[in-house]
Amino acid sequence: MARCFVTRWLPFPALDRLSARHEVDVWPERLPPPYEELVARAAEAEGLLTLLTDRVDAALIEHSPRLRAISNYAVGYDNVDLEAASARGIPVGNTPDVLTDATADLAFALLLTAARKLPEAITAVRDGDWLTWEPAQYLGAAVNDATLGIVGFGRIGQAVARRASGFEMTVVHTGSGSGSVSGLGLGVGSGSGSGEALDAVLERSDFVSLHCPLTPETYHLIDDAALSRMKRTAILINTARGPIVNHDALRRALIAGEIAGAALDVTDPEPLPPDDPLLAAPNLIVVPHIGSATRAARERMADLAVDNLLAGLDGQPMPHQVNPAR
Ligand code: DGY
Repeated sequence: MARCFVTRWLPFPALDRLSARHEVDVWPERLPPPYEELVARAAEAEGLLTLLTDRVDAALIEHSPRLRAISNYAVGYDNVDLEAASARGIPVGNTPDVLTDATADLAFALLLTAARKLPEAITAVRDGDWLTWEPAQYLGAAVNDATLGIVGFGRIGQAVARRASGFEMTVVHTGSGSGSVSGLGLGVGSGSGSGEALDAVLERSDFVSLHCPLTPETYHLIDDAALSRMKRTAILINTARGPIVNHDALRRALIAGEIAGAALDVTDPEPLPPDDPLLAAPNLIVVPHIGSATRAARERMADLAVDNLLAGLDGQPMPHQVNPAR
């Protein structure tokens, strides 16, 4: 029986499977354990089940001599220092596939919401500003037939493209999510991993949706220069990771009308404080990182996370292991 630290309560049956085999310490608070607390608990643990809000860095791994397995309850794993884990031979797992459709649905919901100015329209009804049917009120962007640019054509990017085909959109995209985002080649409307250069995607698209992982290469990928390549009528959607977009640049672009709008499920930092200057920018929608927030997706993520941890503690390859530790 191994000691495991689970950094947040997961209200799904999977946690019982873990408790049936191991001694499980669950962080009971709504907010994540502070970093010092995480380090202290990890120092006693052989298994860690972490969330994307937990920083599992080299220092934490160094101070956790008994640690044998790390399972991240997310498909993204930019919060885990993979190099440090691999150097210690610690396998790291993630939860791919099961949240692909939920996240693609949310990306498309944000696209439609921003395109059709739903927040303004909903507010107008509640504020008593629905005076009559007006020819030129709440005029949004046409989605049908528009061009959608997908940056990062991995699992979720491809799922968004499938939704776009129902709206008869033209899809252009960069390379796959895990590879270079500036890969050349023709990827228009195809399901292949090859794609167009980022600049071409930005220039051609009416909507740009981000689906690449956060890596040193994609940090602030969408900066002043990238935003200036987009059409003035274009809308940016980010359901990937907040730091892929430079928020100062986005605020400037929205205020200057360099792009028509943005819809973000992820921000930098998270949570975005209510007084963050970005929130004062026009034509901006922000929701609190809910891409995978369907009961089905979160429950299946818990299953995968526990499967990964159990396998790692048993000395077996994890079903979804992201480093070559074993
Ligand atoms: C993930 O799993 O990486 C998502 O961001 C969670 O919604």
